[in-house]
Amino acid sequence: MKTKQAQNRVVIFDTTLRDGEQCPGASMGLAEKLEVARQLERLNVDIIEAGFPIASPGDFEAVHAIARQIKKPRICGLARCLNPDIERCAEAVAPAGKRGRIHVFLATSAIHRQFKLKKAKSEIIKLAIAGVKHAKQFVDDVQFSPEDASRTEPDFLAEVVTAVIEAGATTVNIPDTVGYAVPNEFGRLIAELCARVPAFARDVTLHVHCHNDLGLAVANSLTAVQNGARGIECTINGLGERAGNCSLEEAVMAIRTRADAFGVTTDINTREIFRASRMVSKLTGMVVQRNKAIVGANAFAHESGIHQHGMLSHRSTYEIMVPEDVGISGSELVLGKHSGRHGLIARLKQLGYTVAPAELEKIYARFIELADKKKNVYDDDIIALLHTEDLAGPQAFALDYLHVSTGTVLPTATVRLKKSGVVSEPASACGDGPVDAMFKAIDLITQEPGTLLDYSLQAVTKGEDAVGEVSLTVRFGKTLVVAKGASTDIVEASAKAYINSLNRYLFEQGQQKIKAQP
Ligand code: KIV
Ligand code: ZN
Repeated sequence: MKTKQAQNRVVIFDTTLRDGEQCPGASMGLAEKLEVARQLERLNVDIIEAGFPIASPGDFEAVHAIARQIKKPRICGLARCLNPDIERCAEAVAPAGKRGRIHVFLATSAIHRQFKLKKAKSEIIKLAIAGVKHAKQFVDDVQFSPEDASRTEPDFLAEVVTAVIEAGATTVNIPDTVGYAVPNEFGRLIAELCARVPAFARDVTLHVHCHNDLGLAVANSLTAVQNGARGIECTINGLGERAGNCSLEEAVMAIRTRADAFGVTTDINTREIFRASRMVSKLTGMVVQRNKAIVGANAFAHESGIHQHGMLSHRSTYEIMVPEDVGISGSELVLGKHSGRHGLIARLKQLGYTVAPAELEKIYARFIELADKKKNVYDDDIIALLHTEDLAGPQAFALDYLHVSTGTVLPTATVRLKKSGVVSEPASACGDGPVDAMFKAIDLITQEPGTLLDYSLQAVTKGEDAVGEVSLTVRFGKTLVVAKGASTDIVEASAKAYINSLNRYLFEQGQQKIKAQP
């Protein structure tokens, strides 16, 4: 019998580097796979499925290198129930020693048996048993997946599962390979399997592996957990074959946020989620949609005046999770035509301005006029607005002059900044590119160097003169700051975003000093 703690813990099996990489257009090289694997280790996933070693020399190399370099999670490789696959996989995971796992799979549904494998049920059982037994000669930790399990006859599925456990499988994974299942039906299938296979209550772990063809991968995985599954196979950003796999961040945050509904835990270090999401997006070129749950740019952004007022009074009015818990530095009150005075005052404060109540009405009227014309009102727009109102200068930095030279010469930037109406001396620096050179030149003036952790560029208007919005995550000391800047010139947008991140940091530092005073 499992201990109570083991009964309530859900294993997180990450397959970003295997099923995720099968997503059309998302392939990664060795260096990139290693970078993702290190981030998965920081996330504290239990198992990394690192690839399908027989598929290509590149896949073999990646699994082998990950098995050699990653020290904490189990490292798993995929293999069909064929001896050459299993042997190649065993060789690839060998450097992980006792943490190495071989994952063998074989389709079991009638459709696959008839049209793909052209084999009878009895042959399928024989092949599955032989595959598990062969894998057992190399590692103790063997996982078996009956591919297309959700479309397999339940009696035959239970028969296969029982047979592979007797052959030595330590984990059995139930895939919804084509994303066909719906939650209550999939939950019933898992509950039935748990009732029919006593080993799941003892020492064998039951996983689920859901695809998102109907947008139900997370719902199916969570319902499976409510019905006895204790492992979720998932990927960062839900990346994967066709419409993708169950998204790690959504499943983990649902389990954490609704502990009352699920009654289970994971060991994931959720504060590494955002970084993992941006890393995978950057390395695969698969952009995260703005309104994606947990990690989308809008996930913690509030625009309407009513919501902003609520958020400023108490975050729990409109937020069920704290953005810091997933590694985002704070909620964003997006200023647009739906925003109210409370949101505007809060942003002005953040930018280092205090505005007298008498002036606020004038500024608010101008702000609404501008917001009616523009989709997003950026920090720079607000600062420009204040300057046209000729208000007292802020304690914040602003860009005064920017020149970059790049091309076949060493990229160089010259920058001047303005603070409290005073323009700095120009500073020049070279860098790996124009943006890097410009950041270094800014650091020379401000003497508060930041470390760039994440950079993304997005067009917010269409056409040749499109406005580009740069979003940055910058670390100052131990503080992470997210900020944006926009311009038709991407180097200028980057400069504005970087300066905005510094202003936010300086403002937060000032606030903390005030709070710390007796
Ligand atoms: O979707 C699927 O069935 C798979 C198996 C190899 C587990 O990815
Ligand atoms: Zn899959």
